[in-house]
Amino acid sequence: MRIKEQKYFLPDGREITIKSAGPEDALKVKLHREATSAETHFMAREPEDGQLNLDKITEILGSIAKSERDFMVSAYIGDELIGDLGVTLIRPHLKYLHRAYLGMSIRQEYTGMGLGSFMMQIALGQAKANGFEQVELGVYSDNDRARHMYKKMGFKEYGMNPRAFKLKDGTYRDEIIMANIFE
Ligand SMILES: CC(C)(COP(=O)(O)OP(=O)(O)OC[C@H]1O[C@@H](n2cnc3c(N)ncnc32)[C@H](O)[C@@H]1OP(=O)(O)O)[C@@H](O)C(=O)NCCC(=O)NCCS
Repeated sequence: MRIKEQKYFLPDGREITIKSAGPEDALKVKLHREATSAETHFMAREPEDGQLNLDKITEILGSIAKSERDFMVSAYIGDELIGDLGVTLIRPHLKYLHRAYLGMSIRQEYTGMGLGSFMMQIALGQAKANGFEQVELGVYSDNDRARHMYKKMGFKEYGMNPRAFKLKDGTYRDEIIMANIFE
């Protein structure tokens, strides 16, 4: 499904359009994900993992757009994609139908200006409306900004996957498991 289009204004007045990226935006999503992977170590991929596959992204965005429950919350300045958030069913099996997984990233230059909180608020409202009972995510233990924002938006930390990530410098990071359980 696709969310209803809406606007967000940065503190300097610049207008951001929030809508759902679809298969037609696959190249923008690919470039965004490659850029955000290079900007911090907080994403799953390193640039050395290679380029993302455009056909695969097109297929995934197409199936999310057609899905009744999965959706994207995407932020654009003009035509440029600068924020990417996806909410997807964890597994299509009966025992998992109440659980959604959320992943998100914003280009560094647009972080710290409330956009992430705004996108999260939309995502949680839509997830509830789509029948999910909880939204889950994993975050790097040293991603203080993300952990702060997620807690502010109602997520709690329920667990930890030790040494989930090994960085290029040989150091490890734990993954913190968080969930927002709607009650
Ligand atoms: C994590 C991310 C999505 C948050 O979005 P954002 O637009 O930067 O977040 P917001 O501006 O809405 O909110 C950030 C909050 O963190 C706070 N914050 C900023 N730096 C912080 C730090 N080092 N430690 C703790 N809190 C911090 C801000 O004060 C703000 O809190 P407040 O609203 O209570 O004042 C975004 O920064 C991002 O995409 N970062 C790079 C990729 C990434 O980390 N993705 C998440 C993977 S799990």
